Amino acid sequence: MVLYQIYPRSFQDSNGDGIGDLPGIVQRLDHLRWLGVDAIWLSPTFPSPNHDWGYDVADYRGVHPDLGTQEDMDRLIAEARSRDISILLDLVPNHTSDEHAWFRDALSSRSARYRDWYVWADPKPDGSAPNNWLDVTGQSAWTLDTPSGQYYLHNFLPHQPDLNWWNQEVRDEFDRILRFWYDRGVAGFRIDVAHAVIKDRLLRDDPEPAPRTVPAGRRIRRVRKYSMNRPEVGEVHEHWRALSDSYDPPRVLVGETITDQVDQWARWYGPEGLGLSLAFDFPFVFSSFEAGPLGRVIDESLRALPRGAAGCWVASNHDTSRFPTRWAEGDERRARMGLVLLISLPGVVTLYYGDELAMPDVPVPVDRVRDGFVIPGSTHPGRDPERTPMRWDAGPGAGFTAADVEPWLPLGGTTPNVGAQAENPGSPLHLTRDLLSFRRAHPEVRQGGPRQVRVDEAAGTLVIEHAGGTVVACNFSAAARAVEGVDGRIAIASTREREGDRVTSGLELAPHEGVIVVAS
Ligand code: GLC
Ligand code: CA
Repeated sequence: MVLYQIYPRSFQDSNGDGIGDLPGIVQRLDHLRWLGVDAIWLSPTFPSPNHDWGYDVADYRGVHPDLGTQEDMDRLIAEARSRDISILLDLVPNHTSDEHAWFRDALSSRSARYRDWYVWADPKPDGSAPNNWLDVTGQSAWTLDTPSGQYYLHNFLPHQPDLNWWNQEVRDEFDRILRFWYDRGVAGFRIDVAHAVIKDRLLRDDPEPAPRTVPAGRRIRRVRKYSMNRPEVGEVHEHWRALSDSYDPPRVLVGETITDQVDQWARWYGPEGLGLSLAFDFPFVFSSFEAGPLGRVIDESLRALPRGAAGCWVASNHDTSRFPTRWAEGDERRARMGLVLLISLPGVVTLYYGDELAMPDVPVPVDRVRDGFVIPGSTHPGRDPERTPMRWDAGPGAGFTAADVEPWLPLGGTTPNVGAQAENPGSPLHLTRDLLSFRRAHPEVRQGGPRQVRVDEAAGTLVIEHAGGTVVACNFSAAARAVEGVDGRIAIASTREREGDRVTSGLELAPHEGVIVVAS
């Protein structure tokens, strides 16, 4: 399966308010069909006060008025289906918005109907927060509700109170929510912070971090042993999995399972693969763009998967700098090689809108910042640079919105764009499309099975040998390299050079080139 993530506010505006919407996505389905994706994951589409742009849900059964109506959603599902594309929604079970009716009720008194649907705790004797857990901004994860004298938990913003998954009523309600959307034709869900849903029942302090190397740009402030990553969450996943498997066709659950450790990641597939259907491989996302580290993550991940389970690879998303910026540092040759590597990995591949153009991050000026996680005065750019509008053409508004409209986040120019790249067979867009079509035609690349991952760290080369003699070779170095033992015909090269040529005595790779060779 090839999944394509859309951040709905940034894909296509159909009514000239500068905000992407569901009818806009319908207008662009032919692009996705032409590209060759199987399914779309929509970042949250539910009503929300948007403190976290939809990841603070106020009604799990509705559609945000900025994005359209329930009829628009039904039409999107039907129009996508007629193009053999399925739709996955984004389920946010860890927390609601503080404007959700349940939380409003919970605030009304200690004995309110929905009080226990959230995580409440008394202050310590000195009045301070119940434990040392930190929220996403680095402040205490507890906010005092003065009228009732208790604290409520929020692993993210104070506007995002965590639900209490020890309460059976919460579990039952989410079963109904899953069924509500499955019955409307939704093919599955991406599960927001799937590893975090249950908290330690005793609310024990998280340990202080031991000094260790963490991927660039990430700060580990607490080891999330009790506030997240509880083994008990596996039961919830297994329950959702059984419910989803009871549908025909089975519905898919893709977990957002954040970790930089391969063994931690693989455990979310559950014992015997009965947990999440798929778990995004975050150790891959957090890896540096080098032959050694990437090759090791790929090799270890493939070995760690339970029998019959598929890997789930992704390079960019709405929380992480886009890979053409983060990995390729603006060098298009490296971004193209990244596309070859990503799209030729076995299992499920997810593209983030704009990946097909090798679209980079867009710097967002301070006065245009919309990300609620950005602490005022901080120098961190937040997540807006990877959330800017898709560029469809070179006209004003980039084909995303009307000419005279200021989009909700800046466009940052009109290059690259779909129209120009569609006319250029050498473009990243055509490379992406050709890679997806190659993938469809080559089950040995797409499916599980034995494969060898060979890394030469000194040379900076990474070679993946698939069954039947298909080989993917990437040169991470800035010098030309030769890879021995490759024999066949060049099917796709990231440079688009030498395609169709025979390789007999070793494969020559240009600097930052990725090549797929098939046996001939
Ligand atoms: C996930 C989402 C992120 C959101 C957070 C809280 O990490 O991907 O965008 O802010 O959860 O819901
Ligand atoms: Ca709109």
